[in-house]
Amino acid sequence: MSKLNIVTIVGARPQFIKAAAVSRAVASHNNGTPAAPIVEKIVHTGQHYDENMSQVFFDQLDIPRPHLNLDIGSGTHGAQTGRTLEAIERVLLDDRPDWCLVYGDTNSTLAGALAAAKLHVPVAHVEAGLRSFNRLMPEEVNRVLTDHVSDLLFCPTDAAVTNLADEGIARGVCRVGDVMYDCALHYAAKAEAIEDEVLATLGLRPKGFFLATVHRAENTDDPERLRGIFAAFEQIATPQRPVVLPLHPRTRNRLEQEGLDAPDHVRCVEPVPYLEMVCLEKNAAVILTDSGGVQKEAYFYRVPCVTLRDETEWVETTRNGCNRLAGAEPARIVEAVAAAEGAQPEWLPMYGGGAASDEIIAMLLNTHKATCADGEGM
Ligand code: UD1
Ligand code: UDP
Repeated sequence: MSKLNIVTIVGARPQFIKAAAVSRAVASHNNGTPAAPIVEKIVHTGQHYDENMSQVFFDQLDIPRPHLNLDIGSGTHGAQTGRTLEAIERVLLDDRPDWCLVYGDTNSTLAGALAAAKLHVPVAHVEAGLRSFNRLMPEEVNRVLTDHVSDLLFCPTDAAVTNLADEGIARGVCRVGDVMYDCALHYAAKAEAIEDEVLATLGLRPKGFFLATVHRAENTDDPERLRGIFAAFEQIATPQRPVVLPLHPRTRNRLEQEGLDAPDHVRCVEPVPYLEMVCLEKNAAVILTDSGGVQKEAYFYRVPCVTLRDETEWVETTRNGCNRLAGAEPARIVEAVAAAEGAQPEWLPMYGGGAASDEIIAMLLNTHKATCADGEGM
C-alpha cells in the first residue's frame, strides 16, 4: 500500500483542539508503521488569528506546525467562506491528497469540504451528523452542507448517526466517539498539574465560582439576548462566588459596541489556553455557556451545565438534567442555575472510550487500502 496523503483543514479554536487528537493518532501510526506512513499536511485557514485564539493551542497541545497559513482573517460569511474556498482549492490542486479532513461546523469546514468535493478529493468529516435543526445558525448550514458532500462521516454520538439516517445518509457513516473526549483524557494529568496555580492566580476556590462563555452570533449579535445573559450573570454573581468569563473577541467587540460593562463580580478575562480552561471547567460550581465544546466538556468533567441557547446539538447531555437549556432570559437562566446546583444527575458514558482518533485513522487507512487494492486490480 502506498503512503496515505491527508490535507487537514483547521481555522478556528475548537478545530485546533480536535485536530490535536487526530494528529497525535497520525504520529502514533507513523511510529508503529514507518513503512506505510500517513503524510498529513495541516492547512490553517487563518479564520482565528489572535495569539490566544490560535498559536497558544499549537504550542500547548503540541500540534504539528501548519504547513500553510492562508491568512483569510475575518469577514462576512460569503467573503470569508469564498476566500477560504478559493485558497484551499489552490492547495488541493497542487497537492492532490487522498483525503481532505475537515472538523466541526465553521466557515473553514464548509470551505474545505466544498473545495475538495468539487475536485473529487474525498472528504472526511470529523463531528458529522450534529444538528440543532435551526437553520438560522450559520453552523447548521455549514454542517448540513458538509455532511452531504462527505465520503466518510465520523459521528461522535448515536444521535448524530440517526440525524444522518433521517437525511438519507448511511454510506460512509462511522460512530467513532468524540475526539474532544480523547483530548480530555489525554491532557487530564497535564491540566491537573497546573490546577492549583490556575485557581490561585485568579483567586478562585474549587467550586467557588461560575464559569461562563458566550460567543454564538445568536447571542452576541442580538442586543436583547446579550443584555439578558449579562443581567443573569449579575444576579448570580456574588463576592463569594464570582462569574469568570473568558471573553471571545467577538463578544468583547459587541460589548464595547453596546456600551455594556461587566456587572459587579463578573470577571472578564482574556480567552485562556486549553489546559487552563480545563482547570476552570473542572472546578466551576456550574458552567454557563453557548459553546458546543464547553457543553460537552462540562459533561466529561461532571459539572452541571446551563446552556445559553434555545436548542443544542448535544441532546444526550440534557437527558438526565446534566445540561439545562435556558435561552437568554435572565429569570430562566437564574432558575436553571438553581436547579442545576440542587440536582444529582446520572452521568452515563456517551462519548466513546477515548480512542475516537485512532478509529478515525484506522478507518481512513482501511479505506485507502481498499482503494489501492481496487487500483491494482484494474
Ligand atoms: C467561529 C465559528 C463558530 C465557532 C467559533 C469558535 C463560523 C461561522 N463560526 O465563530 O461556529 O463556534 O468560531 O470559537 O465559522 N476575531 C478576532 N480575533 C480572532 C478571531 C475572531 O478578533 O482571532 C473577531 C473578529 O472581529 C471576527 C469575530 O471575532 O469578525 C468573529 O470571528 P469568526 O471567526 O467570523 O466567527 P466566530 O464568532 O469566532
Ligand atoms: N476554550 C479554551 N479557552 C477559552 C474558551 C474555550 O481553551 O477561553 C476551549 C474549550 O475548552 C473547548 C473549545 O475551546 O475545548 C470550545 O471552543 P469554542 O467555544 O470557541 O467553540 P465551539 O465549541 O462552540 O464551536
